[in-house]
Amino acid sequence: MQKAEQLALADRLLDYIDRQTLQLGESVYRQPVSEYTSPAQALREQQLFRQRPLCVGMSGDLPAPGHYLTHDASGLPLLLTRHTDGRFRAFLNVCRHRGARVAEAAGEGRGFVCPYHAWRYGLDGRLVSRPEEQAFPDCSREEHSLTALAADERHGLLWVNPTPGAPLDFAPEFAALEAEFAHYALDSFTPFATRELRRQMNWKLALDTFLESYHFCVLHKDSICAIFHHNLATFDTYGEHFRLVSPRRSISSLREQPREQWNLLPHLVVIYVLFPNTVLVWQGAQVEIWQIFPDGDDPARSVLRLTLYAPNPPDSDKARAHWQRNLDLVLHVVENEDFPVGEGIQRSFSSGAQSHIVFGQNEAALAHFHAAITRATAA
Ligand code: FES
Ligand SMILES: [Fe+2]
Repeated sequence: MQKAEQLALADRLLDYIDRQTLQLGESVYRQPVSEYTSPAQALREQQLFRQRPLCVGMSGDLPAPGHYLTHDASGLPLLLTRHTDGRFRAFLNVCRHRGARVAEAAGEGRGFVCPYHAWRYGLDGRLVSRPEEQAFPDCSREEHSLTALAADERHGLLWVNPTPGAPLDFAPEFAALEAEFAHYALDSFTPFATRELRRQMNWKLALDTFLESYHFCVLHKDSICAIFHHNLATFDTYGEHFRLVSPRRSISSLREQPREQWNLLPHLVVIYVLFPNTVLVWQGAQVEIWQIFPDGDDPARSVLRLTLYAPNPPDSDKARAHWQRNLDLVLHVVENEDFPVGEGIQRSFSSGAQSHIVFGQNEAALAHFHAAITRATAA
């Protein structure tokens, strides 16, 4: 984040703290409960995950040529590779013979051998060889490469369009966010751990939990309330994408320093929502990427893929213990505090107890997110 932007943010946040308020949205937003329960809406939302660029991780997930990673949370079997030329590539993880998965989990190698009949593919997806070649006349190797997907690596983030043949189209407003990412050196981060969580709630309820700090000192009174200001964050939009900045309580120490010496970043958690479904949580020495998807076609189930990244590979027991504690804290807060409430909400929605919920003017990011979903699925 550029220095001028840091100073402007610091001014806004200190002003909010002085006035014990935040910039209010234009109006209260009434959200129909059916958006979280309707199978028809869930079907419409599938297009959100098939037509837009999806963030599937960071450069450090594929640290060197030859590395590969499978990715299934989107509902499509994806195979992500780093070719010998260093380029990030993405394919459907489906053998072109009879459909077996050609790779599992993550690893390193010169290519893939299908476990069923040993068709052999390169890291660039090319079908290199197959046993009993003469049995496949009129069925060229060239036409039976792995199905390639549009893929790009930008400022340390890995992007895929999961629809074969469809391009990666970034909205023009995304450029301003990328200019900010360029300052974070995201390409130098190393994944510490990835967890896939499955919960009994709509994917948007899982995402909603990141979108306001109005609950910090209520639901999280015994955990993060001591660290962060309550009901206090900036909110800025970049087309469908948006950014929330929550100050740590330590931000008040800036008041004792001359403004030109301020270093705001250690006092922040910055939450980027990369529409539709990725939450990037930046805290300087730590980055979390949450990819949140529907789990199948049931609107009441979701799958969350979390990766916690460290700025350097943890190279000692002490460093590993430090990162394990960070991961445990993140998981404790969401798994024991946020998500049980979300699952209770889903049950109340499914019961038909009420038709609408409301987002207050202090919950403007929720209104923005759901209005964007409504627009995108009506199109
Ligand atoms: S299904 Fe892959 S080689 Fe037969
Ligand atoms: Fe929370």
